Amino acid sequence: MRLSGKHILLGITGSISAYKAADLCRLLVKEGADVRVIMTPAATGFISPLTLSVLSKNPVGLHMILPDDTWNNHVELGLWADLMIVAPASANTMAHFATGTCESLLDAVYLSARCPVMIAPAMDHDMFLHDATQENLVALRDRGNIIVGPASGELASGLIGEGRLVEPQEIANAVIDFFKKDLPLNGTSFLVTAGPTREPIDPVRFISNHSTGKMGVAIANALFDAGADVTLVAGPLQIDIPKGIKHIPVSTAAQMFEAAKSVFASQSGAVLTAAVADYTPETVATDKVKKKEAQWTLPLVKTVDIAEELGKMKSPKQVLVGFALETSNEIANAQAKLKKKNLDLIVLNSLKDEGAGFGTDTNKITFIGDNLIQEFPLKSKVGVAGDIVAKIIQLLHA
Ligand SMILES: Cc1cc2nc3c(=O)[nH]c(=O)nc-3n(C[C@H](O)[C@H](O)[C@H](O)COP(=O)(O)O)c2cc1C
Repeated sequence: MRLSGKHILLGITGSISAYKAADLCRLLVKEGADVRVIMTPAATGFISPLTLSVLSKNPVGLHMILPDDTWNNHVELGLWADLMIVAPASANTMAHFATGTCESLLDAVYLSARCPVMIAPAMDHDMFLHDATQENLVALRDRGNIIVGPASGELASGLIGEGRLVEPQEIANAVIDFFKKDLPLNGTSFLVTAGPTREPIDPVRFISNHSTGKMGVAIANALFDAGADVTLVAGPLQIDIPKGIKHIPVSTAAQMFEAAKSVFASQSGAVLTAAVADYTPETVATDKVKKKEAQWTLPLVKTVDIAEELGKMKSPKQVLVGFALETSNEIANAQAKLKKKNLDLIVLNSLKDEGAGFGTDTNKITFIGDNLIQEFPLKSKVGVAGDIVAKIIQLLHA
């Protein structure tokens, strides 16, 4: 939900592409934005206000003066918004905006809005190329309005050329990018490993562990919400991966290492939450092992230590965070790991703590860093992810 808590005014004008505004509205709401729609009277000839009121879950503003002689408070609407988007923006409405003409509720809200305004023009090719439209566009851009598009392609008139409304998903992306630039991890990228690994014994059996991937996905999500590009290298997970996070599915420890190694060099850092197998069967039987002997000894060999290998690759600018699940001598073991593996931070969780560990929705962690031992109370995994991301932001700027 990359637009959670954002107030967005969506202005719709009388263009044949007005139907696409319904999709844009839906995408913005899906990303968590509170959307209020204002339509010009001409827009209602192309799409019904009812559609937009259902999709935005808010009444649609149409007129400055209401039938009961009250008014639609354009000043209040203009102050409420964090961002105003006009999509599609007709040549007529752009001319109003450029000249300060105030004939519709949308014009009035535009003139009173203090927030940034995004304008996505949509019109026929020749209307768009006309000197009047081009001059209005330059004036609007020079005044700080963000112009999105138009795109080139087939137009409703049958002409081919510039004038198409940019696709709703692209406008939604522009909105997300607009808000992203203020986020603390904008411009950074992080690798997160999550979930268990599976080490095959034969075609039907494997060695694995109880990791569900909940903690790793919560961290990937928190990094993403803070503006980072996130790549999640994950073993088989029991939860969905939120949209926007790049997912590289793997199974064995060796595959996880190869995937993590290939991504790590280009990242600002990595958070290694995966419960990676320490040992893997020396050989994998090609056929299912039959139940014959009273005892079965399975030779195991050490897997590659992903944290240690990434620690060797780490540049001074990168932040490397590891997880440690200990059952005894927790702090001393974690401190030793921190040094040996060249990590910046270890997030320690102990199986002794109730509510911590595998499968739970909560976790109780301690940060172990250079001269740092910081204990946290039991929190939701989402809350814990927030603490870890706050620490990463600190480490990145240190
Ligand atoms: C079928 C049809 C399609 C239209 N499509 C567009 C369009 O894509 N872009 C545009 O600027 N005007 C278009 N117009 C003209 C506008 O609807 C007209 O200029 C109207 O006054 C715009 O009012 P508004 O800016 O208040 O919404 C179209 C008109 C018709 C009848």
